Amino acid sequence: MKPYLLLRAAELTAQRPSGEVDDVHFTEALAESVIADATVEGDLVLDPFAGYGTTLAVAERMGRRVVGVELLAEHVEHVRARTSGRAQVLHGDARRLAELVEGPVDLVLTSPPYMSTVRHPENPLTGYATDDGDYPTYLRELGSVFAQVATLLRPGGQAVVNVANVVTDDHVTPLAWDVGRIVAEHLTFLGETFLCWDEHPPGLAGDYLLWFRRPER
Ligand SMILES: C[S@@+](CC[C@H](N)C(=O)[O-])C[C@H]1O[C@@H](n2cnc3c(N)ncnc32)[C@H](O)[C@@H]1O
Repeated sequence: MKPYLLLRAAELTAQRPSGEVDDVHFTEALAESVIADATVEGDLVLDPFAGYGTTLAVAERMGRRVVGVELLAEHVEHVRARTSGRAQVLHGDARRLAELVEGPVDLVLTSPPYMSTVRHPENPLTGYATDDGDYPTYLRELGSVFAQVATLLRPGGQAVVNVANVVTDDHVTPLAWDVGRIVAEHLTFLGETFLCWDEHPPGLAGDYLLWFRRPER
């Protein structure tokens, strides 16, 4: 685990599908660094919030087996076009992860959909499609996803979560701390990598990779 990573905003912009500004938070270089650090060839890498497929595309290119779950059909289509037929790209809801994915998984690398505690009626876990968003419910449901991640990981397998604290006008939601706390209810917290952007992404305070491990026994 590196204490920090230097990231280029221009790389993120170039790698995002055109018109997409919110849903891709990390670069291929970041995914490469984590996958090289935490896996070997042939290992199984899972992204329960696959998005546009950065984790899956990079892991596959590095000779890992990949499985991802994504709620939105248009994102699923994009990831399928970006990966080979061997990649398992499942159209479904991560809240039912254990019914969709078969373990043992060696590494989970993911970035969940974000939420703030203020002015945020949209529900992140329905793809922002419904206005029943509620921060405690969101955290509880994310906790249940990571409880399922813990059952799918092999003993000693790692979960690496990209999450930031979120700035809304003059208010900061400590999302990274809250997600760290709920994931640590299911997996052992190992530490964090601070993401140093050359141009800091708007709307974010500190941006992190939080590292967890399933205990060996
Ligand atoms: C922050 S993005 C992930 C971006 C991804 N790391 C990438 O580089 O493309 C979060 C993704 O989670 C998806 N999502 C939201 N709720 C979900 C759910 N309940 N189950 C599965 N995916 C979900 C969103 O549609 C979005 O694509």
